[in-house]
Amino acid sequence: MKDWWKDFFKPVTGEVMFKSRAGKPTRLEVEEVLKQLRIKHPLKILDLCCGEGRHSIVFAQNGHKVVGLDYANNFLKVARKEAGQLKLPIKFIKADMKQTSRYFKKEEFDVAVSLYNSFGYFDKRSDDFKTIKEVSKVLKSNGYFVINTINGSGAKVRLKNPISMGHEVFKNLFMIDKAYLDFKKMRTHADWTIIDARKKKTSIFRGSFQQNVYSHNEMKDMLKKAGFKIVKTWGVLHGGAFDERTSWHQTILAQKIRS
Ligand SMILES: C[S@@+](CC[C@H](N)C(=O)[O-])C[C@H]1O[C@@H](n2cnc3c(N)ncnc32)[C@H](O)[C@@H]1O
Repeated sequence: MKDWWKDFFKPVTGEVMFKSRAGKPTRLEVEEVLKQLRIKHPLKILDLCCGEGRHSIVFAQNGHKVVGLDYANNFLKVARKEAGQLKLPIKFIKADMKQTSRYFKKEEFDVAVSLYNSFGYFDKRSDDFKTIKEVSKVLKSNGYFVINTINGSGAKVRLKNPISMGHEVFKNLFMIDKAYLDFKKMRTHADWTIIDARKKKTSIFRGSFQQNVYSHNEMKDMLKKAGFKIVKTWGVLHGGAFDERTSWHQTILAQKIRS
């Protein structure tokens, strides 16, 4: 399953992941990030792994200058179309997150965000660290990085045993999710089967993804090693307390203190 992230993010996986989060949930997520940043003036923001651009768009609607970066062409197409319809001057770039600095000037951004669990996808953990280093390069000194990802200890609780569940995401669109945690490698494995019975001809998508998970201390150590100091942690993206032992997600606000 090398580089699974190059093929997994298709329109139908996008629909399952993003459609129910459009509108109010996304606005609440962005509001929480801006509240934690406590900065009022317009910022230049990098939305790393922006997907269909749902956060980029709301950041721009709040007066910020935004660049979205993602690897999936089909998501970028949706993002560009929506930003165009809303007349928002957002630039969307196709790139691999571990090569971020190739696409921007040094210290170009005030803030970078990696939202909704877009981290830990690489086969080699060193590439996860590289991604953070790349973000640091394009951030101004004292700039901020907000990263939301799975919390390793919470994953051990939630995926103590393999899970297998199915539900109807939207009318006649069904999803079966099988997942387990490799406790030795601390890497999640998930198989998604999406059955789309909305048209005359039913179609089935099958895709798998894997993700390295990090404990809160490991995330903090990685960020510090890359030149950040930790400012704050909360749990799920739209706000809420973080419990190091049980929270499924960790959202960390870090500030760049050295290159
Ligand atoms: C879970 S989605 C989150 C998208 C977006 N942040 C959101 O919340 O709507 C993860 C995103 O990471 C992107 N991605 C995966 N691997 C990537 C890589 N190596 N470089 C850039 N983007 C990548 C995918 O295409 C997908 O859009």
